[in-house]
Amino acid sequence: MRLTTGLSQKWTVLFSFLSLFSCLIGPALAVKEHDFKKCDQAGFCKRNRAYADNAASQSSTWVSPYQAIVESPTLKDGQLQAVILKTINANGDTVRLPLTISFLQSGVARVSIDEERRQNKDIELRHNSIARKERYNEAEKWIIVGGLEPDQQAEIVHQEGSQINVKYGPEGKFEAVIRLSPFEIDFRRDGASHIKFNERGLLNVEHWRPKIERPEGEENSTEEDESTWWDESFGGNTDSKPRGPESIALDISFHGYEHVYGIPEHTGPLSLKETRGGDGNFQEPYRMYNADVFEYILDSPMTLYGSIPFMQAHRKDSSVGVFWLNAAETWVDIVKAKGSSNPLSLNSGAPTSTQTHWISESGILDVFVLLGPTPKDVTKKYGELAGYTAMPQEFAIGYHQCRWNYISDDDVKDVDKRFDKFKIPYDVIWLDIEYTDGIKYFTWDPHSFTDPIGMGKQLDSHGRKLVVIIDPHIKKTDGYPINEQLQSQDLAVHDKEGKIYDGHCWPGQSNWIDCFNPKAREWWKTLYKYDKFKGTMENTFIWNDMNEPSVFDGPETSMPRDNLHHDNWEHRDVHNLNGMTFHHATFEALQTRKKGELRRPFVLTRSFYAGSQRFGAMWTGDNLADWGHLQGSIPMVLNQGVSGFPFAGADVAGFFGDPEKDLLARWYQAGAFYPFFRGHAHIDARRREPYLLGEPYTAIVTAALRLRYSLLPSWYTMFFYANRDGDPILRPMFWTHPSEEGGLTIDDQFFVGSTGLLVKPIVEKDKFSTDIWIPDDEVYYDYTTYNVAKTQKGKHVTYDAPLDRIPMLMRGGHIITRRDIPRRSSSAMRFDDYTLVISVSKNGEAEGELYVDDGDSYEYEDGQYIYRKFSLNGDVLTSVDPEGRDARKIKSGKWLKAMRDVHVSRIIVVGAPASWNRQEVQVESEGRTWSATVEYHAAENGRAAFATVNGVRARVGEDWSIKLA
Ligand code: NOJ
Repeated sequence: MRLTTGLSQKWTVLFSFLSLFSCLIGPALAVKEHDFKKCDQAGFCKRNRAYADNAASQSSTWVSPYQAIVESPTLKDGQLQAVILKTINANGDTVRLPLTISFLQSGVARVSIDEERRQNKDIELRHNSIARKERYNEAEKWIIVGGLEPDQQAEIVHQEGSQINVKYGPEGKFEAVIRLSPFEIDFRRDGASHIKFNERGLLNVEHWRPKIERPEGEENSTEEDESTWWDESFGGNTDSKPRGPESIALDISFHGYEHVYGIPEHTGPLSLKETRGGDGNFQEPYRMYNADVFEYILDSPMTLYGSIPFMQAHRKDSSVGVFWLNAAETWVDIVKAKGSSNPLSLNSGAPTSTQTHWISESGILDVFVLLGPTPKDVTKKYGELAGYTAMPQEFAIGYHQCRWNYISDDDVKDVDKRFDKFKIPYDVIWLDIEYTDGIKYFTWDPHSFTDPIGMGKQLDSHGRKLVVIIDPHIKKTDGYPINEQLQSQDLAVHDKEGKIYDGHCWPGQSNWIDCFNPKAREWWKTLYKYDKFKGTMENTFIWNDMNEPSVFDGPETSMPRDNLHHDNWEHRDVHNLNGMTFHHATFEALQTRKKGELRRPFVLTRSFYAGSQRFGAMWTGDNLADWGHLQGSIPMVLNQGVSGFPFAGADVAGFFGDPEKDLLARWYQAGAFYPFFRGHAHIDARRREPYLLGEPYTAIVTAALRLRYSLLPSWYTMFFYANRDGDPILRPMFWTHPSEEGGLTIDDQFFVGSTGLLVKPIVEKDKFSTDIWIPDDEVYYDYTTYNVAKTQKGKHVTYDAPLDRIPMLMRGGHIITRRDIPRRSSSAMRFDDYTLVISVSKNGEAEGELYVDDGDSYEYEDGQYIYRKFSLNGDVLTSVDPEGRDARKIKSGKWLKAMRDVHVSRIIVVGAPASWNRQEVQVESEGRTWSATVEYHAAENGRAAFATVNGVRARVGEDWSIKLA
């Protein structure tokens, strides 16, 4: 009773704040669009778009006022240093913009432009600001983890007048043609243009200048619109802008590329839309300014909670990319141009080029160029820079059960028991903000969570985990030691005057930890020690929410841009990084909970930036329980994958509202393929735990969950690839089949890693069949019936999908690993035997891999893992270590020893030829040979022939082979 009253009070408080400060509470579920800026409400975006319009209107007569001067045209350590002169008036006055072009051993090129006067701190700040004078140049420090070794082989191969040609990259296949005046760079591969900088002359570095105070009434005689240079208001908030206008912008053209992907987080199609109006296009540029945009709209370039300024362009047989390393608010305009203006472009059969225009509010200009040629190369090189997905806690790829809120420890224990009673697997139960004592993080509500350890122990007794939420706002209230420490040690974000910033969030008046401050991060670590955060134990993990940061009474529901972080960097400079620094701090805090214990953290984050993949999972925030949001979640999750952050999912079955049961069933079927799979619901939503649904729904949802659990070994292996190479876990058609033009815009179906599983979830109401696009000539089998799909390359095949079926095909040529005994959690399956499912290709072959480790520690770094490659060649199936390690020579720790007793017990061969129709086969391993039994089923009624080999009993960590005929 008390809790219910407490909850509704908090809700009322929130709503009164929102209405007080934004006055825009509407009755319907829809984003409050006007709470967020459009381009023409952000002065710098408007100015740069106008600059682009002006350039376009002058077309051939427009000359970019930027020219580079190279004092000594030599490459030192793969770097070319120069200065760009920006002509700022008719008198020919210029400002100096130091330019560095770096050629990296990986074949990536980097172009950085700064402003000399600001490097020298030779500017005056207005309003007595104590902010830093330099352009923000520390994004690299947070994001780049490797790939910066210089290309010592890069060389200037040609230099003449205003042009310098540099050959670089693998076998010197790449070339940067640098034109000095006007400044332009043409990045070529194998002699053809792929990416051009400043081709349209939109490079713009708004240089520092003093404000000219004009007597009242006197007009600005220059042509420039200064109205948003010196301060800027939006939604009742004024940004003081002590450095005046300081945006940077650049046009980047992808020659011959019709499709671009990436720059999450947005709704809308995977292949990004044009943004300058016209039929079916957006009017607004894609915006990246991390914000708490709840009830967000679909098919929109509006900003959402996270951003990754990485874009991949693709055309038949070629992929390239750019990574715009800037943490300030960024907008990207996209237009597509027929034909190519570039005479050198080979452009075979791809007449359309994509022209992009990148606009950031502040900071230095710093762009990486990746020349492919395959999607895999681009993803890999990007990951070398920004890091790869962390190996997850194994439980984290199981199913997570969340709602706002489980109301007491008894409630949690009851839900836990009921999952067991209904034999529904799950791994983690979550606690939202109400578990705390008055939203004071690191405390428990003394009435409803009286025995958190007892609760944790019940969960632990069958290997389950607890995730609790910890947000970055720290309640400002007397007697709360965490806030007292934050204040007394000066670890919070400051306002523009340097005082601790106050704002409103869930707890009411709050302060925000400043994770840019190393001392704050050290302090954050102390709070998570088991003996400090009482009530937590080894199976407690963390959820970081509201870290954009969300501030209910702040501009655009965030912090003022003139707030100050550690070292007096303005919030505007680092806004998009903010969420990641908090996520990072929590990740490190979990690694240091107890001396001598080093386990992989699990931290979910809502806000993210390039690099966040190193610290955990993300989810797509506050979606709606409607069919559109189910549908919209698929391209969003796919885009996360091609943008280097594949550990992603959406709230199943929609956060706001009560999903109808069909929607709920379909959402679980789709969610079973999100890399991060969590059910979550708003506080006002009705309870919807799978066992409450009634039949047939409970059975349908249970089946989807069991499917997920049976495939966990394959999922884990896909995470291993993401960790090693940055490969997306869910792979869109353009990524797996880069030569097939028909697949380049498809974003409603995907392959699960390299398993060959081709899935197309049903995302529409009353839809009981779907058409799956087939990318190649391979054979495809139905996953459950083994029917051979009547496919044709480049055509669709119809798949019947009544409510209890998920459209799912197995591509011929793959071997997937499963664990088939249904259990209550992933940890209960840790030492279960494996089943291999082989889908035989048209040529009678198949291949697949399994990676497995203890799913918890870092001992895999010391060789404590099993890595197998399974191959079917002719009649022989083998398992070998693809790294050639000898199992006997690895010093086994506890886990590896226990794995000695884990076997491949069953093998299902779909598409088995008639010659395999026999009763037993010989298994050979560890110097012995024994027989296993075979059940052979001849092909009938469209179903492929298949053979099941039982009693295989080959140790999973050992080499073995089986002769099948
Ligand atoms: C906003 C989050 O997006 C949502 O998932 C959560 O339930 C609420 N905050 C309350 O913590």
